[in-house]
Amino acid sequence: MAERRPTAVLISGRGSNLEALIRRSAAPESSARIELVLGDQAAPGLEHARAAGIPAGVVERRGFDQRADFERALDGRLRAAGIELICLAGFMRILSPTFVDAWRDRILNIHPSLLPAFPGLDTHRRALDAGVRLHGCTVHLVRAEVDAGPIIVQGAVPVLPDDTPEALATRVLEVEHQIYPFALELLASGRIRVEGEQAIADAPALPWNPLLNPSPAPDRTALG
Ligand code: GRF
Repeated sequence: MAERRPTAVLISGRGSNLEALIRRSAAPESSARIELVLGDQAAPGLEHARAAGIPAGVVERRGFDQRADFERALDGRLRAAGIELICLAGFMRILSPTFVDAWRDRILNIHPSLLPAFPGLDTHRRALDAGVRLHGCTVHLVRAEVDAGPIIVQGAVPVLPDDTPEALATRVLEVEHQIYPFALELLASGRIRVEGEQAIADAPALPWNPLLNPSPAPDRTALG
């Protein structure tokens, strides 16, 4: 079997995506191996790493005056562990162009919207306020610009009539847990090629199957 790529996950909070990444990369056929988990604070999600026997630590952002020093410490930990790929999973720090360029095309992020719609925070409330009928999540390669970069995988869910931001977040999160391990597998197995600012995946596209929301009654055409 091919070498598995040593991967780190950076978190700030609960770590449900981390848990999904750990679970899927434990499969023998996985091309990635989670070998280090770091928090920028004592994040509850670090427990998922400890429970799986994966080295976990904290590089406290508050321990450094300058972001550059914090990032040097982070970079040092990653390189000392022989890390090749990084997954940001609810990591609430903006990384500098210097850090991002040093790891170019080797850092993934998951964002809870269908980018380029709704970059930034509070995406579920903003999607409801905008009245969109489809919402979702995106895994992309990280660039210096926040929530931007070549898109690897997206997953969509319908917005339902009585949705609250919390209900929508729960629906989206379930999809996050599917697409993040899949996107990491694509990257780790060398099936992502970046051309210009587009990521091209060597993976079958979805069969043509429109997702209509609301959907026409089963006995009607798409024109209702
Ligand atoms: C997720 O919604 C992710 O898309 C966003 O932050 C949240 C992290 O959740 N970047 P968790 O810590 O993985 O549970």
